[in-house]
Amino acid sequence: MSAFAAKSFQSHDYSLYRPSYSLDFFKYIFDFANLVKNSQDGKILSILDVGAGPGTCMVTIIPYLATLVEEKKLNVQKIRLVVTDVSSNMLSEAKKNLIDVIGKIGAQHANLFELLYFEAGGEGLTDLVGEASIDIVIAAECVHWLKSKDWLNCMQQILKPTTGVLAFWGYVDPVFTGVEKPGNHEKEIETANDFYESFVYEAEGKLGVYWQQPGRSKLRGLCKEANGLVYDDTRCWGDVITVYRDPLKGDVKVLDRLRGQDVDFEVDDEAFKLTKSFTLDQFLRYADTWSSSHKWNAEHDENNKVSSVFYKGLNETTKWELEDVIEVEFKTYYTLAKKL
Ligand SMILES: C[S@@+](CC[C@H](N)C(=O)[O-])C[C@H]1O[C@@H](n2cnc3c(N)ncnc32)[C@H](O)[C@@H]1O
Repeated sequence: MSAFAAKSFQSHDYSLYRPSYSLDFFKYIFDFANLVKNSQDGKILSILDVGAGPGTCMVTIIPYLATLVEEKKLNVQKIRLVVTDVSSNMLSEAKKNLIDVIGKIGAQHANLFELLYFEAGGEGLTDLVGEASIDIVIAAECVHWLKSKDWLNCMQQILKPTTGVLAFWGYVDPVFTGVEKPGNHEKEIETANDFYESFVYEAEGKLGVYWQQPGRSKLRGLCKEANGLVYDDTRCWGDVITVYRDPLKGDVKVLDRLRGQDVDFEVDDEAFKLTKSFTLDQFLRYADTWSSSHKWNAEHDENNKVSSVFYKGLNETTKWELEDVIEVEFKTYYTLAKKL
């Protein structure tokens, strides 16, 4: 279980400072799933969010789905959103956020959405949600915490055959790509990236040992094991696409089994390009949401929080100040697949 499940974890700060996912990325997933084409009168569309955290994904897709129904593009009787997480803290935050977003989209949609919440691990959802009951599974930034084989077996059981879609993705290690100040800052950016690697993983007495394993290593490796299991399993999963992006190496790797097939879908290797501009101050607050920081901060006083120590080291080497605006791009991966 991850540090996010700890009662003391600040799920509210998590929502505030973490990057969120663009609506365009969800539209891309829905295109892949033929969401509109597969909708029909009287259908209940079921979307399951594994490791939902504070509801990051659902908050983005609910207004969009409501609009699709309003514009009569999506023809369904009901949209069932199944929100799951091992952490009761996260689920409470998700409930608050989803009630809020549904409240904002208007009374006419009050009966359109059915929300179900399950405090459960992603590997053991079959009895809770039912076999062959789900149209789309999304699992964002959590697959590294899961037992890949058990989880994928479970997803095979709960997805609807031939139309069911599994979409999962993750991001890790923000790579500094720019700082909004006049002049050339290439050298500082390189120094900042070296500092990050050293502080977060390599230097003795810093964050390295505070990461929970094997989750962090799996995420740092962009969940190659889970992606490989899906990609190689030609009996269970079809139309598989995996895209890895590593801005530090300037590297994009696309694996797809769509090539040469008669499929009306174009793979976009930028679909999950995750960039963010923060003030350095906001970046440091984000740093305090890392699971390793949760552990470190519990052992250190306010002056030695991860954000403070990181700032001191970064400022010494780059002279960047709290109000400087910095740009980062995360290393990312995503996988989309259809249940056969
Ligand atoms: C980094 S957060 C991601 C939250 C959200 N999906 C997002 O993208 O913002 C990871 C989430 O996975 C949850 N988690 C960890 N282990 C899990 C497991 N075995 N099954 C389900 N969720 C798990 C944590 O409680 C946490 O909420």
